[in-house]
Amino acid sequence: MVIVRSPLGLLALIVVFFASFLDATRIPMFNTNKKHHDGSHSDERHLSRRSATVDLQRNPSYAPNGPAAYARALSKWGAEVPEKLAQSLAAMRGPGDGRGDVEAVSFRDDREYLSRVGFGTPPQWFTVDLDTGSSDVWLYTTETRLSIAQDRRIFHINASSTAQQVPNATWYITYGDGSAAWGRVYRDVINLANLTFVNATIESASAVSASLAADRDLDGVFGLAYNLSSQTSPRQPGVLAAALLPRLAAPVFTADLRWRSPAGAYTFGYVDHARRAGELRYLNLTEGAQFWEFAYRGVRAGGRDRWHAPAGEGRWRAIADTGTTLLLMASEVAELYYADVPGARRNATAGGLWTYPCRNPTLPAFEIRFDDGFDVTIPGQFMNYTAIPDEPDRCMGGLQTWGYDDLAIFGDVFLKAVYAVFDVGQARIGFAPKKLNLTPS
Ligand SMILES: *[C@@H]1O[C@H](CO)[C@@H](O)[C@H](O)[C@H]1NC(C)=O
Ligand SMILES: *[C@@H]1O[C@H](CO)[C@@H](O)[C@H](O)[C@H]1NC(C)=O
Ligand SMILES: *[C@@H]1O[C@H](CO)[C@@H](O)[C@H](O)[C@H]1NC(C)=O
Ligand SMILES: *[C@@H]1O[C@H](CO)[C@@H](O)[C@H](O)[C@H]1NC(C)=O
Ligand SMILES: *[C@@H]1O[C@H](CO)[C@@H](O)[C@H](O)[C@H]1NC(C)=O
Ligand SMILES: *[C@@H]1O[C@H](CO)[C@@H](O)[C@H](O)[C@H]1NC(C)=O
Ligand SMILES: *[C@@H]1O[C@H](CO)[C@@H](O)[C@H](O)[C@H]1NC(C)=O
Ligand SMILES: *[C@@H]1O[C@H](CO)[C@@H](O)[C@H](O)[C@H]1NC(C)=O
Repeated sequence: MVIVRSPLGLLALIVVFFASFLDATRIPMFNTNKKHHDGSHSDERHLSRRSATVDLQRNPSYAPNGPAAYARALSKWGAEVPEKLAQSLAAMRGPGDGRGDVEAVSFRDDREYLSRVGFGTPPQWFTVDLDTGSSDVWLYTTETRLSIAQDRRIFHINASSTAQQVPNATWYITYGDGSAAWGRVYRDVINLANLTFVNATIESASAVSASLAADRDLDGVFGLAYNLSSQTSPRQPGVLAAALLPRLAAPVFTADLRWRSPAGAYTFGYVDHARRAGELRYLNLTEGAQFWEFAYRGVRAGGRDRWHAPAGEGRWRAIADTGTTLLLMASEVAELYYADVPGARRNATAGGLWTYPCRNPTLPAFEIRFDDGFDVTIPGQFMNYTAIPDEPDRCMGGLQTWGYDDLAIFGDVFLKAVYAVFDVGQARIGFAPKKLNLTPS
């Protein structure tokens, strides 16, 4: 999930969101008041918002009487996930004080990666999305509207001996489908990666958008943006700066997301060099960045000779976001890539979604150049995202557009292909090759 602010900083444009017309995608979208650099307003945002709303309403997968396949999947996950999480947690060892690991488990074809985090004293455990694209930590709680809180895990605020309400503070986020999430603000203890962080700002959801509530796997979001304050009033520093950094052995965390696998992990307070299989190279973050934002030099679709790159010494901008499922890039890049995919087309009525026949043997790999001799290759398997419920013989790609061509979102589709180091202390992000398991587990 990415929180996007207007260039003038007048308006917090938050969004990001889930799902749109497909059950399985989290696509960032701007809120309708988005102003362009030149001051004009964009109709595209209205359009994408409308199509998202319509499609969410008819999203078959989350309906109580949805397809049997989905029900089976739900009960399957319901039974398996806690065990999976417990096993991966047990398999991890924190190498010492101020350092620790937490699992990143793939849910539903890598739609999202979730981790177990404890809140309060004694800790109550929840499955949350560690999200480098936002800065708010929020949970469903005893304050959440009953229609939403029903049948889901909620944080019992009164059962935590350390929970303290922040007087008169509230939080408020507008989502891509036009609805909002808000609530009260607390401070409490967080248990993450077998480390304890005190006095963390925790936001209690009174209500959330329907699209968000529909994700039954998700108990909350844990924002880890680089240097972005949380969307609270009055403003609070993000949890990374305020609560995590002071207690970590080093001001760094890493993400090792795994394709279709529960074996991924985040490490906090150290870089686990055993997780990489090649040189770790760093990129400085954009000056004054609030997100994990950096520049790259070009892209290449599988097997072509030539790189597609900005003119001269130019660079393009991107944000690394663990909370976004897809790789979201400029329209011209998507066109270039899908030109090499037989039967690929862009569906204008489905928000510009790129799809192709699922029976294609394989997709081309996709390469990103960061610097001389510093390229990342995303294997073809990772570029195939998922089959479309409405048209089961067509699949959607992991590379899509999002109506915002001058900033790319390097979501999970990209991050799965690397070992990523989020170095707060030195304001840089690092990527290293890793051993990729190309058969799902
Ligand atoms: C968690 O930390 C405690 C004490 O700091 C340590 O004894 C224990 O082995 C750690 N557990 C894991 C799974 O790393
Ligand atoms: C929590 O405690 C407060 C103060 O004691 C009380 O007013 C409130 O009703 C309690 N809430 C719940 C959900 O138990
Ligand atoms: C909270 O708001 C109330 C009413 O607006 C005010 O009386 C009170 O002083 C405020 N408390 C704090 C701690 O700001
Ligand atoms: C708790 O955190 C808040 C904001 O991050 C800070 O203003 C406050 O001083 C902290 N309180 C303690 C006791 O550390
Ligand atoms: C983080 O942002 C604040 C403003 O919100 C700024 O004062 C501070 O210098 C920034 N820190 C870094 C390391 O960029
Ligand atoms: C990255 O930042 C560091 C520290 O500010 C600086 O020494 C280095 O030259 C920068 N590298 C590039 C490529 O800009
Ligand atoms: C476009 O998407 C809509 C909605 O999913 C679908 O009904 C339609 O068949 C698609 N059209 C094409 C040309 O793929
Ligand atoms: C893409 O993934 C779907 C299921 O997730 C699979 O059925 C299909 O065969 C795959 N297609 C390609 C081209 O890899």
